Amino acid sequence: NQDQLKQLVGVAAKDEVLKLPAGQVLGVGTGSTANCFIDALAPYKAHFSGAVSSSNATTERLLKHGFKVLDPNEVSVLPVYVDGADEIDPAGHMIKGGGGALTREKIIASMAQQFICICDATKQVPVLGHFALPVEIIPLARGVVTRELERLGGKVSLRATKSIRADLDQTPSEPFVSDNGGWILDVAGLQISHPLALESQINQIAGVITVGLFAKEKADVLLVSNESGISRIV
Ligand code: A5P
Repeated sequence: NQDQLKQLVGVAAKDEVLKLPAGQVLGVGTGSTANCFIDALAPYKAHFSGAVSSSNATTERLLKHGFKVLDPNEVSVLPVYVDGADEIDPAGHMIKGGGGALTREKIIASMAQQFICICDATKQVPVLGHFALPVEIIPLARGVVTRELERLGGKVSLRATKSIRADLDQTPSEPFVSDNGGWILDVAGLQISHPLALESQINQIAGVITVGLFAKEKADVLLVSNESGISRIV
């Protein structure tokens, strides 16, 4: 099943990063596949001088395993960043942000010399866009950014989270708030045949913090698991 495929690729990514010389810093992504990688790597954490993390959730998991988590501002050389994806096309362009961590993920990816994407085969698509594209925004820009994204042909919805206010009869859904205090618009219905162009177009919209299209910061290596094992695609 899919959980086993995630574990399989997590272990393969562990083997891949252990080929690096010892004493370097590692960039670590967010999500259920990245979690499998963190757990597989935990016994070998001494191989690295520390890790930079792409979210509060990943930081917590790394610390629990005893990794040293470094401030990205203290790190000048980052050989590798390992993370999952929601969709990946044959050129290595990705949609990310299903877990809401896209901004820090893109920052850490941009610091890294190599992006190793880890996923199971269900994430591979010929053209990006079946998975709704996450766009993190400054909350007060919701209206204007929504209209701009609709002009690009998208169907836009504000990502919601269940309220934790159990005292209310009807649980209202409230906006999901990112680690950076941003809101997320999920944009459905896009056929993304020119990812790099669309990424820079959405980056131009005032109020956008980050678009979850990783075309400039695309994957350099893809480790993908399927029923017959692992493929390594460069
Ligand atoms: C987190 O914000 C995302 O970019 C994840 O990398 C992506 O959603 C993949 O997550 P899973 O490994 O849980 O599918």
